[in-house]
Amino acid sequence: MNKNVIFCYSGTGNCLDLAKNVAHGIGGADIVMIRSNPSVTDVSEAEKVGFVFPCYGGGAPADFLKYVKMIRVSPNAYTFGISQSSCYTGTGLSSLNSIIPLKYWKSVTHHCSCIWLFPHTVMLPMLSLEKAQARSETLAKDIAEEILSGKTIQKKPPRNLFNVVENKIWPALAGTRIAAFKVSDECIACGQCVKICPRKNIKIDNSRANIGKNCIQCLGCLQYCPKNAISIGRITDRREHYHNPNISAADLMQDVIHID
Ligand SMILES: Cc1cc2nc3c(=O)[nH]c(=O)nc-3n(C[C@H](O)[C@H](O)[C@H](O)COP(=O)(O)O)c2cc1C
Repeated sequence: MNKNVIFCYSGTGNCLDLAKNVAHGIGGADIVMIRSNPSVTDVSEAEKVGFVFPCYGGGAPADFLKYVKMIRVSPNAYTFGISQSSCYTGTGLSSLNSIIPLKYWKSVTHHCSCIWLFPHTVMLPMLSLEKAQARSETLAKDIAEEILSGKTIQKKPPRNLFNVVENKIWPALAGTRIAAFKVSDECIACGQCVKICPRKNIKIDNSRANIGKNCIQCLGCLQYCPKNAISIGRITDRREHYHNPNISAADLMQDVIHID
């Protein structure tokens, strides 16, 4: 393994793109995908260990923290956490910090991938896709410089009551959307959604994708479907789909991505 390791959860590419840019900026890293059981958990030899993940419903995505608990990090390692959201940090960094104490953390925003809640253009500050992407790349450079300089942040990541409550009720709210997933006649049974799903929750039945109930809400299947055949009710048919412009479905399917 590289002496720098970044664990990354990403549903629609924003976090993987950010993780890759930070990895380049710190002179290379192995990016271990953590959308399902991570393929590497013992990184006790690594000098820098980072976590890049989105805010889902006011906190870390389902199961992310469960996987984090499996990871072994040296007490001497420089640890960092970066949360990406469309508007606010949520409690994810705080929860991560209580499992693996973070020497450095940062929260950044990008376009929203929760298509059933908001159009993707919803973000703070409001920016076009091109400007939001350029901003994310500049922020990644700044973050990498701070990590390289060994900057530490004494203040703990935020944990406000609203986000804690929001994150507690999130599974029930998100659960109502799982039942609403539909696959249209546009489906060509290409099988990409089967491969991208971290939960192995999608099968091809009778030449059509069939989505089961074990959904983690990453929305990779919907946002990357080449035929826009997957929807969550009529509202998502009307909305423009979004995934990070630099990250392909194949990128998200990797277990470990080596960045020199
Ligand atoms: C299911 C879901 C829930 C989300 N919840 C929040 C939220 O509570 N607050 C927020 O600011 N952004 C929220 N977002 C927006 C994401 O955090 C943001 O789009 C992030 O950049 C996505 O990263 P990814 O492309 O790596 O998956 C949510 C997105 C999804 C898909």
